[in-house]
Amino acid sequence: MKTEKGIALVDRDDDGVDRAFRADVLNGLRQRDKAVPARWFYDEAGSQLFEDITRLEEYYPTRAETQILQDRCEEFARLIGPDRAVVEFGSGSSVKTPLLLGCISPAAYVPLDISGDFLRESAAALSEKFPGLPVHSVEADFMRRVTLPDAVLPLKKLGFFPGSTIGNMVPRTAVDLLRSMRATLGADDGESPLLLIGMDLVKDRSLLEAAYDDGSGVTAAFNLNLATRINRELAGTIPIDALEHVALWNDEFARIEMHLRARCDIAFTVSGERFVMAKGETIHTENSHKFTRRSGNTLLLAGGWTPVERWLDSDGQFALILARATEQRDAP
Ligand code: AVI
Repeated sequence: MKTEKGIALVDRDDDGVDRAFRADVLNGLRQRDKAVPARWFYDEAGSQLFEDITRLEEYYPTRAETQILQDRCEEFARLIGPDRAVVEFGSGSSVKTPLLLGCISPAAYVPLDISGDFLRESAAALSEKFPGLPVHSVEADFMRRVTLPDAVLPLKKLGFFPGSTIGNMVPRTAVDLLRSMRATLGADDGESPLLLIGMDLVKDRSLLEAAYDDGSGVTAAFNLNLATRINRELAGTIPIDALEHVALWNDEFARIEMHLRARCDIAFTVSGERFVMAKGETIHTENSHKFTRRSGNTLLLAGGWTPVERWLDSDGQFALILARATEQRDAP
């Protein structure tokens, strides 16, 4: 049965279970190295916990990126210019998006998100702050090419993807997404869209591990909430108290990994299927890749974007990069 949530269709079975969630969890738990995709963190409780994370002392990315947006207003205005449709991939953040929109005099704002609830909230908040700005919300999965509303098609576009969410994808998926963004923004229709994208930078391992394992346990609660969600939505019996949050720097792949680790041997069921975890075994729940100037540039180029300008916060922890859709050419 397909049920409507706003315009987007969430594919639910007769018990109201999100089929994609169940398939991802069961497939992930059947693997030798257990893993559940990070996108399932964001139920209502998980989204609230993420908001709390962004305000933590240890979690520098939100502060750093906000500082860049505040400090570089004139440069954005000069390099991006007015009258663009700003297409934000993911619902607008209440802090960052107005900072950008306030700098560049856009012609329209187009938030894209799979969650209609977040979209409606962020669109309403934006309309209040920018009363004359046309806002066209699109409920869609931006991992694929999205058809933009007719009203914005003739406008020049700026894609906005803050937060270093690109780092939550493995490189192959990140490249696919960058290419989809290019297609969504009309790069193959003869125009040359821009993209403003946040990338968190490689830094001292202790700073990174603290950012993902804060002293007040908010990130631990965020990670463990995934197991709570599995129990609630998929009739799971995971003993939450027997799991602990782990955040580790993987230097080989330049990423922080979050896992849920079994404190002792455990057995549980999810949707009627039995699973066991030996003491010390983990469920891999998130990757958060960190970039260098070169690795960020290489990723952008692979996705069809040529970096134009790069700004860092005053501590050099986070980068905001402006890129232009690369023209299709066969020769170098
Ligand atoms: C959403 N994303 C960019 C966050 C990050 O930093 O990778 C998610 C997060 N996970 C734990 N803390 C924050």
